[in-house]
Amino acid sequence: MTVLRSVVRGTGSYLPQRIVSNEELARLVETSDEWITQRTGIRERHVAAEGERTSDLGTQAARKALANAGMSAGTIDLIIVATATPDQTFPATAVTVQEQLGLHSGVAFDLQAVCSGFVFALATADSFIRTGQARRALVIGAETFSRILDWQDRTTCVLFGDGAGAVVIEASQQEGGASDRGVLSSHLRSDGRFRDKLYVDGGPSSTGTVGHLRMEGREVFRRAVGLVSDVIDGALEDAGLTAGDIDWFVPHQANRRIIDATARKFGWPDDKVVITVDRHGNTSAASIPLALDEACRDGRIRPGDLVMLEAMGGGFTWGGAVVRW
Ligand code: UT7
Repeated sequence: MTVLRSVVRGTGSYLPQRIVSNEELARLVETSDEWITQRTGIRERHVAAEGERTSDLGTQAARKALANAGMSAGTIDLIIVATATPDQTFPATAVTVQEQLGLHSGVAFDLQAVCSGFVFALATADSFIRTGQARRALVIGAETFSRILDWQDRTTCVLFGDGAGAVVIEASQQEGGASDRGVLSSHLRSDGRFRDKLYVDGGPSSTGTVGHLRMEGREVFRRAVGLVSDVIDGALEDAGLTAGDIDWFVPHQANRRIIDATARKFGWPDDKVVITVDRHGNTSAASIPLALDEACRDGRIRPGDLVMLEAMGGGFTWGGAVVRW
């Protein structure tokens, strides 16, 4: 018996030109390079230029993913943009990306699960593909968190950055086992009891303003490893695999300490963990596809490799996915 799987055909990413170092932030708020590096592992982050929108970042990443896959935009029938920083309240940033790619067919929509957005979007696109509703999808994570930061709040403004990453996935008939290529499993969760731990204090139906990001960092930190461990376990079990089978751990890049503690728990050594948080900061839904693209382009992730993705963020939302490249 064969099954339909979503196989990754290409990756791409885009980072705005401007780099902001910890030293530069230390001139803005009461902080230091030492504090930021020790507590988070972040050294610098990219910040979008004036007028540069989430859709621009997403389109650039999508174009590179299509080029990497050797495919033209015209063959894409599904675009999902995971973002918490859309260009506008509506229409969806995804339809702007669709238009910028010159595509006038198929379906494009946004998905909002904050930092877990890429994992949620990948799982959604995978469902469309496995049920025959799409054949070729662009799954994009794109964010301009610099726009919603309170640049006077040192507890948050040092943590986030802007960027975008994209993958092209395509329907492929596979055997139906753990040795298949493609998305082998995904495990998603959310729990709104924690919605006030990490949120934006504005929105169309509450304040009528865009608002700023607010976070009880310590509370989020305290729960992060436990939550992502649960979905990693769930995704492994669903795929009939164990932690020892994983070749690459590509986590959401929020804090180096969370990543290290999670990797230690599952027995993954440093050289199996893809890290970008030092250079990108936390780019929310963009962090995983940015890290995937880097590790594919530099030759670490190769066809056949088993990759574990995980993320956790506002909501709370959290999710894990196992993908054989
Ligand atoms: O992507 C979505 C998920 N988000 C996350 O995973 C973020 C999770 N949280 C974290 O990564 C960490 O909690 C932080 C990096 C945000 C903070 O690290 P922490 O070790 O939990 O520090 P803390 O919040 O317990 O703060 C320790 C001290 C405080 O001072 P007092 O109260 O001990 O006097 C803070 O006021 O550090 C102070 N502090 C700072 N000092 C210098 C907070 N931010 C800064 C700063 N520079 N930027």
